[in-house]
Amino acid sequence: MKIALLPGDGIGPEIVREARAVLDVVGDKFGHSFSYTTHLIGGIAIDETGEPLPQATLDGCRDADAVLLGAVGGPKWDDPKAKVRPEQGLLAIRKGLGLHANLRPVRVLPELAAASPLKEERLRGVDILFVRELTGGLYFGQPRFREVVDGRRRAVDTLEYTEEEIRRVVRLAFRLAGTRRGLVTSVDKANVLESSRLWREVAVEVGAEFPQIRLEHQLVDSCAMRIVTSAASFDVVVTENMFGDILTDEAAVLAGTLGLLPSASLGEGTRGLYEPIHGSAPDIAGKGIANPCGTILSVAMLLRHSLGLEREAATVERAVSEAVASGARTADMGGSLSTVAMGDAVRSRVT
Ligand code: IPM
Ligand code: MG
Repeated sequence: MKIALLPGDGIGPEIVREARAVLDVVGDKFGHSFSYTTHLIGGIAIDETGEPLPQATLDGCRDADAVLLGAVGGPKWDDPKAKVRPEQGLLAIRKGLGLHANLRPVRVLPELAAASPLKEERLRGVDILFVRELTGGLYFGQPRFREVVDGRRRAVDTLEYTEEEIRRVVRLAFRLAGTRRGLVTSVDKANVLESSRLWREVAVEVGAEFPQIRLEHQLVDSCAMRIVTSAASFDVVVTENMFGDILTDEAAVLAGTLGLLPSASLGEGTRGLYEPIHGSAPDIAGKGIANPCGTILSVAMLLRHSLGLEREAATVERAVSEAVASGARTADMGGSLSTVAMGDAVRSRVT
């Protein structure tokens, strides 16, 4: 089984190293052999090749069964006037691999509830799976440009969705809800946006294919509120690209730390891209104190969704929960373990 590693920038290389070591332990314990190739993406790719996503990286990913990515970006490449930016590498790889659905599970480990700024009673039982549309909407819509008209600057982005783009991601949300608590919350802004009215219409059509799953609609603004007031009432939340971007950062606060949250980006086949939802954390890069758990839990999703290894995936998830329950904590979780020591704490529990 071939895994393409894209460490990227900032803390990316440190956390990907730990997660890869977890995969190796899983391989040993369960008798699988994983082979790895490593490729450039983001700022480091700009420095070395001039492009945030070199063709060789895309080819390497297409040739792999799954892709594990660290993070991209950093102050060095942040000039708003720059022609190329590390983040373009991320958008291009999502589009290039046709990864139209982004799964972001948010669970609250009871031991970490106190680390969340929200009251503990609001966190009890939170277990949400966000399904964010990833290759459409405002991020990719055309036209998109900037111009100067009569000496005044003007900029345009476009929010466009076709029914096919909506249907495939909403269908996935329904299928996943069938393996969970059977509720899909479709989030839109149908009281204002035409694209949202189409989204809602298609969600209802898809809902008819899944009579055993409950469908509810929620406007994005009130959804943002419900995330902090009664997050436990959600099961699967499906929404368009930018709403999903915003809501998933908000929901990450529930878990107490961004450092624990994984993601999977999926397309038509089984090949997927897996990455923690946090960024490259340039302030702590190279210090060896980053939390590797978001990447390790992304490895669990990789085992489940791309390699079909459910037992192995569940073992890794259990190992992370047990490590945290036993008191293993990096700085973001209020502890003092190094990245490597946290990785070891997890690996020693992969049994
Ligand atoms: C995310 C990030 C990216 C996004 C950025 C870095 C382009 O915020 O994965 O949520 O907006 O999709
Ligand atoms: Mg984001």
